[in-house]
Amino acid sequence: MKVNGMIRIVTILGSVRQNNNSAKALAIVNAELNKNPNVKIIGINPAELNLSLPGIKNNSGDAKWVNEQIKAADGVIIVSPEYHGSYSSVIKLVLDNLNFPALMKEKPVALVGVASGQIGAVKSIEHLRSVLSHMGAMVMPGPVSIANVDKVFNENGDCLNDLVLKRLVNLSENLLRFIKRSLLPSISFEQLSRN
Ligand SMILES: Cc1cc2nc3c(=O)[nH]c(=O)nc-3n(C[C@H](O)[C@H](O)[C@H](O)COP(=O)(O)O)c2cc1C
Repeated sequence: MKVNGMIRIVTILGSVRQNNNSAKALAIVNAELNKNPNVKIIGINPAELNLSLPGIKNNSGDAKWVNEQIKAADGVIIVSPEYHGSYSSVIKLVLDNLNFPALMKEKPVALVGVASGQIGAVKSIEHLRSVLSHMGAMVMPGPVSIANVDKVFNENGDCLNDLVLKRLVNLSENLLRFIKRSLLPSISFEQLSRN
């Protein structure tokens, strides 16, 4: 029942590197989301999951869990590093573990990219936007591309760049606003009329 229920945000972390910058960006987004007591965050961290390439037998149950989380999500946030001019393979692994036709259909998805280069993570974000649109997701406007990421976060994960911080906060707020205004009222109306 969505009327008075929690907003479920599923996050997908796109890096499995130790002390990765994607997780630092995601932590800021999570902190912002956590200010809202009605938000429940479910983190998909490929480093903690046993996911296989499509067609490879795997009895771990992790792919099923990922599918369940995406299916139940009101919104999704994906944070990807820029690797060789695109998004990371672990994100593709998560996406390719989703059932086909994909459960992303009509899900609002917000995108964050991190890159050590000065051009930022524009390509990973654009490639992700293309794939997610193909999957039927509603990719949110205003993705955050973080350039020169090694100078943006310190070892502790503190954000040293006010503009980046503001953009990450805005991304979180915009996604929640979109879900509250656009999705929840229609779900509530549907349930009200059925009841
Ligand atoms: C395999 C690999 C490829 C990379 N390719 C690019 C690239 O094309 N452009 C760029 O700006 N940085 C590139 N980088 C640097 C990463 O963007 C940078 O290390 C960033 O911190 C990675 O995010 P992560 O710390 O979350 O893994 C690459 C790093 C790796 C490991």
